[in-house]
Amino acid sequence: MAGNSFGQAFRITTAGESHGPGNVVIIDGVPPGLPLTVDDLMVDLNRRRPGQSSIVTQRDESDTPEILSGVFEGRTTGTSLAILIRNQDQRSKDYSDIKDKYRPGHADYSFDAKYGFRDYRGGGRSSARETTVRVAAGVVAKRLIAEAFGGRVVGYVTQVGSIRATISDPAAVTLEQVEKLPNGEPNIVRCPDATVAARMVELIESMRKQGDSIGGVGEIVATGIPAGLGEPVFDKIKADLAKALFSLPAVLGVEYGIGFGCATLRGSENNDVFTATASGDKPRISTTSNRHGGMLGGITSGMPIVLRAAVKPTSSLPMEQSTVTSSGEPTTIRTKGRHDPCLLPRFVPMAEAMVAIVIADHWLRWLSQGGRLK
Ligand SMILES: Cc1cc2nc3c(=O)[nH]c(=O)nc-3n(C[C@H](O)[C@H](O)[C@H](O)COP(=O)(O)O)c2cc1C
Repeated sequence: MAGNSFGQAFRITTAGESHGPGNVVIIDGVPPGLPLTVDDLMVDLNRRRPGQSSIVTQRDESDTPEILSGVFEGRTTGTSLAILIRNQDQRSKDYSDIKDKYRPGHADYSFDAKYGFRDYRGGGRSSARETTVRVAAGVVAKRLIAEAFGGRVVGYVTQVGSIRATISDPAAVTLEQVEKLPNGEPNIVRCPDATVAARMVELIESMRKQGDSIGGVGEIVATGIPAGLGEPVFDKIKADLAKALFSLPAVLGVEYGIGFGCATLRGSENNDVFTATASGDKPRISTTSNRHGGMLGGITSGMPIVLRAAVKPTSSLPMEQSTVTSSGEPTTIRTKGRHDPCLLPRFVPMAEAMVAIVIADHWLRWLSQGGRLK
């Protein structure tokens, strides 16, 4: 009812807020015997971490997770896995000015409308701090799908403002390219095209200087996913992936494959042609193109799953904006606090985590129906 849980067979439940003591996730459905350490969790948590570069929020959080249960001697036990990440660098006084004012574009007004009052410090439960523990759960899901069938999920930034990268083969993008530039320096914007990445960084830096923010697009690609995962009607894997991405803060659009581009095509142009190659006693069926984004009829086709999410510009701005108070008085607002001038670089690991969680969930559901891996 309250919507704090997601997934069926691989099920996560989160609790926590931006300026409370911390955030916690309980993951149910993790098979026993999966290798898992705090260091494994840190890899993606460091990619999500505030303060990681000059173009993200400077809130200083180490985001070191504590595994409370479900792991013994470095392996999952099969019982419920709980992970806690404490908040360390809350500056609640930054928010006292906006206690009774509604930030344009943020959740302040709608929270008041629903609950009657709200934790105004940093957005409470609407804050992206909650996603720390989703990223931790995503590491577990990534490990599960990698061990089970060699599945892999990689995300990257394809657009910041009107600066776009053209990625000709999404399935070929490596984590290395997303995280590092060809010269070995960190790829702080997470766009795999180094020339475009440099222009994106410039734009984000200029937004920060102007006290403004900018939106963009993230692309997430899952490869090595077997054909046959998903359900035919309400729990289509595309529907669960859409919900997973829309459940992340600031996502205003989700598409997969050719997405909205299908609207202008004829069937003869849009259809991906099937092909078969010999592979043991059964032919290996695939398609010669991937406009369908790896899902047909709500079930995976074995082709790479390719999704995109449009992420809005950060709503909390240091520049003055018009708004109203909770009693309806016109006023102005400037948000102090520390905010990302562009959400995309830190959105990438969150989106990867949610995609991996959905795939892990559908794989376990498939097994519970008697499915078998090829
Ligand atoms: C990585 C990430 C970081 C975010 N950080 C901020 C932030 O610092 N300030 C802010 O106003 N919104 C931030 N947001 C977005 C808000 O949480 C979100 O816009 C707000 O909760 C309203 O929800 P909605 O945009 O989904 O309607 C962040 C979102 C993401 C994905």
